[in-house]
Amino acid sequence: MATTFEEPAWEERYQSRPSVWSGRPNPQLVAEVTDLTPGRALDVGSGEGADAVWLAARGWQVTAVDISSTALGRAAANAETAGVGDRIEFIHADLRDKPPAEQAYDLVSAQFMHLPAEQRRELFAGLAAAVAPGGVLLIVGHHPSDLWGAAHRMHMPDAMYTAQDVAADLDPAHWEVLTAEERARLATNPDGEDVTHHDAVLVARRR
Ligand SMILES: C[S@@+](CC[C@H](N)C(=O)[O-])C[C@H]1O[C@@H](n2cnc3c(N)ncnc32)[C@H](O)[C@@H]1O
Repeated sequence: MATTFEEPAWEERYQSRPSVWSGRPNPQLVAEVTDLTPGRALDVGSGEGADAVWLAARGWQVTAVDISSTALGRAAANAETAGVGDRIEFIHADLRDKPPAEQAYDLVSAQFMHLPAEQRRELFAGLAAAVAPGGVLLIVGHHPSDLWGAAHRMHMPDAMYTAQDVAADLDPAHWEVLTAEERARLATNPDGEDVTHHDAVLVARRR
C-alpha cells in the first residue's frame, strides 16, 4: 500500500495508457475560479494539465507541479496545443520533499491529491503556506462517503478526507473559510455507467 503514493506507481499508471484523465478541467475548479481575478496559480499534482491549461487560457500565470514526468510531458504537449505553453511553468517534484515557496501564489489548487492522513496534513499545511495574502486555497478531494457508494473509490479510508478535516487545520486568525462542503457530481465510470461521486470542497481566503 505504501508504494501506491510513490513516483514509480504514478509513472506506471500514466505509462499504462495514452491518457488517464478526461482532458476537461475539474468542475469544482471551474465553479470556484471563474470569477477570480487572474494572478499567479499553483496547480498541485497537475496530471495531464487540463486544469493548468484552463487557468492559463483565462490569464493565470501557472506553476504546474507533478511527481510524474510522463504526466508533465503530456501536460506540456497539451499546453502547446492550446497555445498557452508560455504561461505555464512545469515542475517535476515530490511536493512532500519540496514544498512550494511561501506566500507566492494568489491561487493554490489541489484537485484529488490523496495521501495517508499524516502526509496529507503536512502537505496541505505547505500548500496553505504558499497562498499570498488575499489569495485563495482550493482543495478538492474524494469525500469518504464514496468509499461505500457506487463510485467504488480507492478503498483507502485513511487517504480520504472531508472539507471540514482540511478546514480544521486552518488558523481562523489567518483564514476565512468561504466553503467547506460535500458536493455530489454526476460522472461516467469506465464501463459507461452514470455514477454519482461526492467531492469534498474547501475554499479559503488568506486574510
Ligand atoms: C488523482 S491525480 C489528479 C490529477 C489532476 N489534478 C486531475 O484532477 O486531473 C493526482 C496527481 O498528483 C500527482 N502526485 C501524487 N503525489 C504527488 C506528490 N507527492 N507530489 C507531486 N505530485 C503528486 C500524481 O502524479 C497525479 O498526477
